[in-house]
Amino acid sequence: MLNEKLQQAISEQINAEFYSAYLYLSMAAYLEDINLPGFAHWMRIQYDEEVIHTLKFFDFLIARGGRVVLKGIDAPPAEFDSVLHVFEATLQHEQHVTSLINKLYKLAKEEGDYPTEVLLQWFITEQVEEEKNAGDAVQQLRMIGDFGPGLLTMDREMAARPAAAPPAASPA
Ligand code: FEO
Repeated sequence: MLNEKLQQAISEQINAEFYSAYLYLSMAAYLEDINLPGFAHWMRIQYDEEVIHTLKFFDFLIARGGRVVLKGIDAPPAEFDSVLHVFEATLQHEQHVTSLINKLYKLAKEEGDYPTEVLLQWFITEQVEEEKNAGDAVQQLRMIGDFGPGLLTMDREMAARPAAAPPAASPA
């Protein structure tokens, strides 16, 4: 069974992952509004991924005999300066999430909770990909420019992002 400290910390992470989902859904809405449906699709898949992350922690907490108590989710920003700004904010947010995961991992080690450590190893690997995806998009957008002719080509490429894997019904 999880101790109280870890239970609290994982509950906070559930909130942080759900905020991420909410943030990316808000970004998808903005991208639809500026007529970039491919980027909006990419961001919607990102939203799906964050819901999966949330449920991984949710299921884990229940499996370890914890009690999930959901907290309120802050409103995400609705307006952005450009598509580049959206992806810069995404990268910055993912770097923040990485620091939260690392902090959680440190706590699991200090508390000697091996199952939590194993769960978090999946998230540590996932964060490498999350930062890379956002970072690659930032680099490409800086190359083509906010309103450059390559933007529509990139929009079509972003539209090809495959659906996120469905969340597991029970903890892995
Ligand atoms: Fe759940 Fe994008 O980190």
